[in-house]
Amino acid sequence: MIRTCSSCHSRDYASSRIQWFEEVTEETNKAIQVTTKLLLEAWNLGAAKGLPTNDNPFDEYIERLWIESWLFNANSIRYAAAMNGPDWAAFKRGWYKLTRIQAEMEHILELYNRTMRG
Ligand code: HEC
Repeated sequence: MIRTCSSCHSRDYASSRIQWFEEVTEETNKAIQVTTKLLLEAWNLGAAKGLPTNDNPFDEYIERLWIESWLFNANSIRYAAAMNGPDWAAFKRGWYKLTRIQAEMEHILELYNRTMRG
């Protein structure tokens, strides 16, 4: 890959950009593990219906937040890292949205726990 980039960029530039992209990809993968665990918890608690009850896993509000986290936010951050898009990666707007969704999913589960389980 670095050889391909090197036909237009310096080797150092290409390898530093690819290394950064890999680090950001790893960070976003970890963040998506968090939102996926929150969704599994929602299904297990019965706060949402999904795969465990053979229900559509993409239609309820908390499920749509989970979709946003990996399909839109994580991919925006990765794309920004690959293309040097400061608005989405360096300036963290992509990260802001992803972490806001994590917090909202946690909040929904907390409210569910308080109201439904005493
Ligand atoms: C065919 C030539 C070519 C190849 C091959 C190429 N690039 Fe580029 N790249 C460019 C040009 C030209 C620009 C500047 C575009 C502009 O400023 O509008 C650019 C811009 C970039 C930028 C954004 C720089 C900035 O400051 O905004 C990054 C990051 C980048 N390339 C990474 C890579 C990586 C990684 C590879 C290999 C996977 C690669 N490029 C392969 C020509 C190439």
